[in-house]
Amino acid sequence: MTKPITGFSKLSKSKKIDWIVDTYFSNPVEATAVLKQYWNSNDKLQLLHDEFIENTISNYYLPLGVAPNFLINGKLHTIPMAIEESSVVAAASKAAKFWLERGGFKTKVISTTKIGQVHFNFKGDFEKLKQFFNQVKPKLIADTEGITKNMKKRGGGILDIELRDKTLEIENYYQLHASFETLNAMGANFINSCLEQFAKTFKTEALSFNLFSEEEKHIDIIMSILSNYVPDCLVRAEVSCPVEDLSENKTVSGEAFAKKFIQAVSIAEVEPYRAVTHNKGVMNGIDAVVLATGNDFRAVEAGVHAYAAKNGKYSSLTHAKIENGIFSFWMEIPLALGTVGGLTGLHPLVKLALEMLHKPSAKELMQIVAVAGLAQNFAALRSLTTTGIQEGHMKMHLMNILNQFGANFEEKQILTDYFKNHPISHTAVTEALNKLRVSSEK
Ligand code: MEV
Repeated sequence: MTKPITGFSKLSKSKKIDWIVDTYFSNPVEATAVLKQYWNSNDKLQLLHDEFIENTISNYYLPLGVAPNFLINGKLHTIPMAIEESSVVAAASKAAKFWLERGGFKTKVISTTKIGQVHFNFKGDFEKLKQFFNQVKPKLIADTEGITKNMKKRGGGILDIELRDKTLEIENYYQLHASFETLNAMGANFINSCLEQFAKTFKTEALSFNLFSEEEKHIDIIMSILSNYVPDCLVRAEVSCPVEDLSENKTVSGEAFAKKFIQAVSIAEVEPYRAVTHNKGVMNGIDAVVLATGNDFRAVEAGVHAYAAKNGKYSSLTHAKIENGIFSFWMEIPLALGTVGGLTGLHPLVKLALEMLHKPSAKELMQIVAVAGLAQNFAALRSLTTTGIQEGHMKMHLMNILNQFGANFEEKQILTDYFKNHPISHTAVTEALNKLRVSSEK
């Protein structure tokens, strides 16, 4: 059995690798080579990546793809996407092209407020706590001056702090529920620093509040942390066109397509099993752009899914209708994103992705990301309700299967051609590759 190791974080990178490969690998030399194969040859660049996290032993690549032809509010964008799943980028590009010819995407930022909370216990009279809160509130804000000065200069900062009584849910439990405007920053560090200062001031000031009893003076801070639930940091993305313009071929009318498409959305609105997969498709687009632009996809995922369940039942993020002969398809989602701070100024590929997007503000990025999500969902539903998902997906997956069998350049070319007109399955590709290899041996 493997023994625990002490002081691992203090070891040098090469000593960490030695321990890992000697402990877990039958062939330590080969394992070391695989890890080192992914190191960047530029030592400075490698060090930058090493220092993003702790105990770094190598880099984990994801492909960075691009989806061109996104017309958003009349402006053309090529959207960078970092994702490992085949067919996502192709689907985004297809949806972009489809809507390019039908007026493009329209987007609007609805709100940009973020939330943070100080969770605390107070044993005593709520009326006295309210009086204390009202008295200390200006000082809570004043004591964060050093943290908020720059943000305030640019027009952001603390918007409000409320005292919330949560004692019906947990005995003695209250919150300072604060709202923030963090402009182009995602704002996690800013918000958390403000909250920790609120907590300090709140606890200290309570000790000298005359109306409190000795017990009431001792406020017990549980924790101070931002919320990744951001229903008031909301963006809307929409596409619309006359129903008849939806048709791409004579076999399916625009109306027949729209009706089936709308029912597919309705199913996701009422059926959680479908809604989760439907929204996963939305997140294929969202996460890929969030990652490419150096934002925190876990925060976005958590916030978006909570929003999808805001009415008490998990449901579709997107909606569709036909009204007066016009088909529309839209989504409103919460997105707390940044275009300054964090990785945005550090990671060379993130800087490149942001420049490709015309160096957007956080609000502009919210709109681009929402469009990528809506486009992805449109493409998925279009395939699902027409040809089925496998036809396109397997075409894109063909290269993965060929790579799995170590197909060379020539084999890939021959088989890509062959499978243009033949149904793709794992077995069919294996057989075709074997046949090709046997015939070329002859
Ligand atoms: C696959 O990554 C995403 C889909 O399953 C989404 C959907 O079903 O709507 C195709």
